[in-house]
Amino acid sequence: LIMIVDFGGQYNQLIARRVRESGVYSEVVSWRNALEKIKEKSPKGIIFTGGPNSVYLDNAPTLDAAIFDLGIPVLGICYGMQLMSQTLGGKVERAKQQEYGKIKLNIENSDGLFKDVETGAQCWMSHFDYVSKAPEGFEVIATTDNCPVAAMKNDAKKLYAVQFHAEVEHTPFGRTMIKNFLYEVCGCSGDWNMGDFAQNMIQKIKETVGDKNVLCGLSGGVDSSVAATMVHQAVGNQLTCIFVDHGLLRKNEGDEVEKVFGDEFHMNFIRVDAKERFMNRLKGVSDPETKRKIIGEEFIRVFEEEANKLDGIEYLVQGTVYPDVIESGTDTAEVIKSHHNVGGLPEDMQFSLIEPLRDLFKDEVRRVGEEIGVPGHIVWRQPFPGPGLAIRILGEITEEALHLVSESDAILREEIAKAGLDREVWQYFTVLPNVRSVGVMGDERTYSHAIGIRAVTSIDGMTSDWARLPYEVLDKISSRIVNEVQGVNRILYDVTSKPPSTIEWE
Ligand code: XMP
Repeated sequence: LIMIVDFGGQYNQLIARRVRESGVYSEVVSWRNALEKIKEKSPKGIIFTGGPNSVYLDNAPTLDAAIFDLGIPVLGICYGMQLMSQTLGGKVERAKQQEYGKIKLNIENSDGLFKDVETGAQCWMSHFDYVSKAPEGFEVIATTDNCPVAAMKNDAKKLYAVQFHAEVEHTPFGRTMIKNFLYEVCGCSGDWNMGDFAQNMIQKIKETVGDKNVLCGLSGGVDSSVAATMVHQAVGNQLTCIFVDHGLLRKNEGDEVEKVFGDEFHMNFIRVDAKERFMNRLKGVSDPETKRKIIGEEFIRVFEEEANKLDGIEYLVQGTVYPDVIESGTDTAEVIKSHHNVGGLPEDMQFSLIEPLRDLFKDEVRRVGEEIGVPGHIVWRQPFPGPGLAIRILGEITEEALHLVSESDAILREEIAKAGLDREVWQYFTVLPNVRSVGVMGDERTYSHAIGIRAVTSIDGMTSDWARLPYEVLDKISSRIVNEVQGVNRILYDVTSKPPSTIEWE
């Protein structure tokens, strides 16, 4: 076990993910009760995360110095390094110039932490405070042009620290460095895997739920399918799945979902046709955040109504994954969008939540799904947002708009699958930008809608790049949509990455 002490940085779960990828089990704890938890669980190692504060200010998150005397190896990252330094008598100051971006790292000593890492390698920096003097007993093991202590260690006490973010992709050797810490310093063996994660979680769900009944909002997407299957394996038919068909799903999706979970998996499965309710509440609404809030709320209301028809439901399962959590705003992260399965929950909600995938990234959810036997066509289904087509229609949601988006999307999916690109491209869909333009069809002037194609590659949905779909495939999609979907006369291709865009348009 590795304990990750959370100081509120935005990459905290990425650290946990790197540890999992290295085959080591980890838990994230808040700095507030870290010492207590660490004493209780005796981990093999501790990692301090980054955070937005300055260690030398009042009220900055801190830790009792006793943590450094437990004999447990510690790796401090960014704020974690500054805290270690400050606590042990080093000096932390505000730099004259902040260091941000890809920076060259000069490695002075490559034993231990930097084993197999070449000096001059690129690392990702994002800080304005810096350690100007390492504490006594520490050796400086790396510098940058602006940072006299970019990494330091005290082998005798097994304390290590780096100023840069080893956990992000922009530090290409980060995985190696984290593995060095886990294997070389902490002596972890690296034989833990996502199957273990699934079995632990299933066990935990079983213990938590006992003989109570559980309700799950199943959308048929990867996340809720994997979450529901886990809970089903934990508590069998104490689980009832409610599939709210809000009418904002992809073409034929409702029937497909019902077939898999109801007919094939034999879950208690209730399909609610709530399209009219959603359409009524969404009438005249065009603001993206308002749409999301309405859908989130209505979703839970439908649930509550259905649940009230059932007896003694105490828990609600949700397939929330980590990117949903972080983008909805945790302690420290900014609210980017209120994803409907977190931010939109009404305050008077009456269930306790079970969110078994809350700490995982999408690709990890897929691995869990495969481990627990969810069929490939579901595990590899592209992600689909809770609010559905509503956030792919800019402006008001009307029957016509829904028709244009779902028909064009069906064509896009068909052609991508035909071209054999459906696993390669991470997510692909059409959007209705709600602009009309002039065209000519036959001999007639048209004034019709444009449809946008969004196709992206990504690993976890946190960042993405636009997919370089072959021209022939785009050509085929384009001509099929304008020919087969009445009311469309122009096709656009979205060529922005995330950031600065997001994957969805709203
Ligand atoms: P964005 O648009 O934020 O999307 O770049 C990142 C990923 O998250 C999906 N997404 C959602 N998933 N509820 C969900 O369950 C939501 O409200 C939601 N909004 C976006 C999006 O499809 C992409 O895969």
